[in-house]
Amino acid sequence: MSETVTSRLSGFHRLPLRDRLGHIARMFRLSTEEVATLQGEGVLDTEVANQMIENAVGTFSLPLGLALNLQVNGRDVIVPMAVEEPSVVAAVSFAAKIVREAGGFTATADESLMIAQIQVTRYGDPEIARARITDAREQILALANSFHPQMVRRGGGAQDIEVRVLPAPEGAAGEPLLVVHVIIDTQDAMGANLINTVAEGVAPLIEQLTGGKVYLRILSNLCDRRLARASCRIPVPLLADFEMSGEDIAEGVIQASRFAMADPYRAATHNKGVMNGVDAAAIAAGQDWRAIEAGAHAYACRSGQYRPLSAWHLEDGHLVGKLEMPMALGTVGGPVQLHPSVKLALKLMRMTTAKDLAGVFASVGLAQNLAALRALGSVGIQKGHMALHARCVAVTAGARGIWVEKIANLLVKAGHVKVEKAREILESLTPEEAAAATGG
Ligand code: MEV
Repeated sequence: MSETVTSRLSGFHRLPLRDRLGHIARMFRLSTEEVATLQGEGVLDTEVANQMIENAVGTFSLPLGLALNLQVNGRDVIVPMAVEEPSVVAAVSFAAKIVREAGGFTATADESLMIAQIQVTRYGDPEIARARITDAREQILALANSFHPQMVRRGGGAQDIEVRVLPAPEGAAGEPLLVVHVIIDTQDAMGANLINTVAEGVAPLIEQLTGGKVYLRILSNLCDRRLARASCRIPVPLLADFEMSGEDIAEGVIQASRFAMADPYRAATHNKGVMNGVDAAAIAAGQDWRAIEAGAHAYACRSGQYRPLSAWHLEDGHLVGKLEMPMALGTVGGPVQLHPSVKLALKLMRMTTAKDLAGVFASVGLAQNLAALRALGSVGIQKGHMALHARCVAVTAGARGIWVEKIANLLVKAGHVKVEKAREILESLTPEEAAAATGG
């Protein structure tokens, strides 16, 4: 199968939905059940939903699209994205096409090192407490690893201990905060449950060693030892568009990058664009996107000022983009086992390891960011957005099939992208046209 998989599917977006499914089904040799799953038909049984969360009353759907053209470390990847916002899938695919022509994305990811935090109080002298914990390093690690022998057998598990003494928030009068970190390699699991079990499991030993009282025992979502990085290097002439030169477009991207670096108000929006891509891919792949979000924004703030997760500069006639962010993902455990769409998403991406998946997500984030900055630094975002928004408006007004595009084009041409206007257009059609346009 892998030899025949390509993410470069020219004209895919113009095919009717059924033909798109047929194409993907053939390329990945999907079974009838898998095609139904891709379509979202009866995917998550309410009984399964009932096992997953409390007070379940049903399930919830989002559009699922495929980001195309992505090439990461020389490998073609089709990325399923679950998202309600028009233009996200198109933007990633568009930017990935430019980057593909420039040789694709290069991505790397750290080992899956996560942090379990244990908060110790009433421990007496902080330096004595610190020494007692560090002296018992091997004992703490052995206890931590006793909770997950399988993870240890696979080469993961608790690897190190850190003791942090932090100034008391109340000032000199308060007891400094003593925080123990257990560093755990969770391998292909996101690892939240595993880490929390370790944090709770070693807490009594930490109390015994320090004579103190432990309060919080939980993972940190600032997983700054589990970073993913993506980069690309685009010859400037490849960027030419909107009747503008590549130099002018590149200049717009660089000015956008400078703006985000200097101003947290802009950096927040810049990173929102990155997360448009990362979150949509994360949701489709059954990942804990709240954890990814929390990690991303905490990491963006690590210098004390909120900064962009990506940056762009010129180098030898190339526009160079780089992104780095925490990426705690799992290809085993959790919804990966329970949710049929998630299994299918991983199959389409041909991803089995959390590290490979992290590199792909970082590339998706960088592609999304490039698409946004390229438009923002030149013609503006509304031009492209409006065309896609107009399709949503046409659907809301009742248009179906090929009429969605037709009505959307008329709305954009009229410069009035509103549901009333779309209804007005539908009402102006002949009865036969109106029946065809609304599927009636
Ligand atoms: C909109 O969802 C995302 C953008 O605002 C990102 C950006 O401004 O970089 C277009």
